[in-house]
Amino acid sequence: MTSPMKPPEGNWWGQSVNRRESIWLGLSGIWSILIFGWMSGYTRFGDQNPIGETLKVSPEEYQEKMNDYTDEASETEEGLLVPSGDDVYFAAQQWYWQGAPVILETGREYNIHLSSLDVQHGFSMRPEQALSKQINFQILPEYEWILPMEFDEPGTYHLICNEFCGVGHRTMHGRVEVVEEL
Ligand code: CUA
Repeated sequence: MTSPMKPPEGNWWGQSVNRRESIWLGLSGIWSILIFGWMSGYTRFGDQNPIGETLKVSPEEYQEKMNDYTDEASETEEGLLVPSGDDVYFAAQQWYWQGAPVILETGREYNIHLSSLDVQHGFSMRPEQALSKQINFQILPEYEWILPMEFDEPGTYHLICNEFCGVGHRTMHGRVEVVEEL
């Protein structure tokens, strides 16, 4: 059987690249480098991607940090955790969020610590009045993310796991209450 595709005529591999082709090739090369640089620059200077800080941590160590944090925190009558300082911890676990429900206040910069004690989870936080508005972070065991976060508006924020993590995934929900003043 012969192929219906015919090779171009003559010694086509030996011909030099057409001038226009070289110009476009050069331009696209320069453009790719610019965009690549911008991607890295935007992570640092844009306000969409907080890079925060990451630490290496074992699940056992993170559980200890979590225990110290909850020991120091107090609790409201409704059972909401009140952090003692600006550090707020959440530990993702099949299938709940340790550290929730928690009560925080607006206009204060918190350091949100995130890690998983078992498998990969997704941290998705959404204000109740606009559930499609959300921030998302992948949470992996062995890594502790520290994200600076400030709430502009009071209200209920839902904490939802958005990474499939097993049979209880859809029940993995937590709550963050934000008030104007604690
Ligand atoms: Cu945790 Cu899905």
